[in-house]
Amino acid sequence: MSTDARPENLTSETVTPADHEQPLEERGTNRSHRPQSRRFVEFVTSGWGERPPSSATRAPVADHTAARRSALSAQFPGVRLVVPAGSYKVRSNDTDFRFRPHAAFAHLTGLGGEQEPDAVLVLHPVEDGTGDDGSAHRAVLYMNPLAGRDTPEFFSDARYGEFWVGARPTLDEIATTTGIATAHVADLADAVAKDVGEGGVRVLVVPGADESVEEVVAQVRAEEESGEADARLAEALSELRLLKDAYEVEQMRLAVDATIEGFEKVVRALPRAVTHRRGERVIEGTFLGHAREEGNDVGYTTIAASGEHATTLHWTDNDGQVRPGELVLVDAGVEVDSLYTADVTRTLPVDGTFTDVQRRVYQAVLDAADAGFEAAVPGARFRDVHDAAMRVLAARLEEWGLLPVSAEESLDPDNQHHRRWMVHGTSHHLGLDVHDCAQARAELYLDGVLQPGMVFTIEPGLYFKSDDLLVPAEYRGIGVRIEDDVLVTADGNENLSAALPRDPDAVEAWMASLQQA
Ligand code: GLY
Ligand code: MN
Ligand code: MN
Repeated sequence: MSTDARPENLTSETVTPADHEQPLEERGTNRSHRPQSRRFVEFVTSGWGERPPSSATRAPVADHTAARRSALSAQFPGVRLVVPAGSYKVRSNDTDFRFRPHAAFAHLTGLGGEQEPDAVLVLHPVEDGTGDDGSAHRAVLYMNPLAGRDTPEFFSDARYGEFWVGARPTLDEIATTTGIATAHVADLADAVAKDVGEGGVRVLVVPGADESVEEVVAQVRAEEESGEADARLAEALSELRLLKDAYEVEQMRLAVDATIEGFEKVVRALPRAVTHRRGERVIEGTFLGHAREEGNDVGYTTIAASGEHATTLHWTDNDGQVRPGELVLVDAGVEVDSLYTADVTRTLPVDGTFTDVQRRVYQAVLDAADAGFEAAVPGARFRDVHDAAMRVLAARLEEWGLLPVSAEESLDPDNQHHRRWMVHGTSHHLGLDVHDCAQARAELYLDGVLQPGMVFTIEPGLYFKSDDLLVPAEYRGIGVRIEDDVLVTADGNENLSAALPRDPDAVEAWMASLQQA
């Protein structure tokens, strides 16, 4: 983030002669030449029409974010909490990745677009009950607002300038949209430092979101006040997302629905994928195009893994051929504009029909997933879902003669032979991050008790590598994963991705109907 002073109006000092001696650190931007003459500067900063009146309105998410901030406030009375959005991340030299804010910032502000790189949310402690909505904190969003057209930023700053990346909102507009008080980011350092010190206010910052904001905090607090306490804040923010509110559930539904449409496009694209030397890229590109058109992006890099590639859990090279007779594993999710993402996997017969052995493996994985769904009810533990799926897979592997011990012995925590063919977990929480809530304590995550409002995946698989000498030849090179997104409800659960066929007969019928249409 940049804590530079707010953009200066142009003065004679800001206009440098074109032929000056260029310091070494300024080189590297010599690929183009921007006129610096006074005449140019006067000309480019003048003659612009009135800006249109603001159309900002309070976002529907604002009531929910207020409740989330209050819940956080209650856990940290008297502590200043600093939650950076983060800055641009360099992709290559002076070219950045598309900006995406840290999930904690998005969760507490409802912001999620391109307009808030370097923003920082601060919850300032106040006397209990006198803060926002009667809480113990007053929230302020420190932003880099729209710069005037009489500033150098307007035309010369390729990273932030209006000429280059478009107009950012004003502080008033952001305050209207979010329902949060706003201030210029140049005021951040003083605001963070206020009343800090011996017996004064403590400050915590979300670690790993923005190094320069962490530096601002480090400047004002005692050295020992760091590390663990910041990790406790990250933990609390992660745990705050374990239960999704009504807005979040609605966004998850939108993400899953858009993802299902993406899978339909993938199935329609399969005949073309088969003809391309890198058919997996046809699948990846089809889904990515859909995700950009209908949402913000993909929530994670798509896995398009045909044949043996499906046995590599995170196969994202996606540079292989897609051959009739093989299975293709597609693990993909649309991230909607609010940044909530789905995470869905289907393993499809490329030519539309499962072979016997493919169907046998597929059915075992499906039965494991169904057992996971049966276990995913309020009051059960998160780990029960995994255990239920593993009991099915171990039994099936025993039946096929692949286990060197009985299924029961394999399930003993001291053995776990069956995990050779599924080394990953069965479930993870899902939301703003594909692996959401990852900093939550084990007692609330793996050992946590399921409650209505939790959203997570159920994604068992079986992966038989082509050089696995412990399985019969017919199984080698087959990888199957079936992944659905589940919402825990008051009386059980809802498979949010149920509209995407998962039963093998239904998959075949669905593929045929899409490819005929
Ligand atoms: N797509 C990553 C995962 O399933 O966890
Ligand atoms: Mn997943
Ligand atoms: Mn996945």
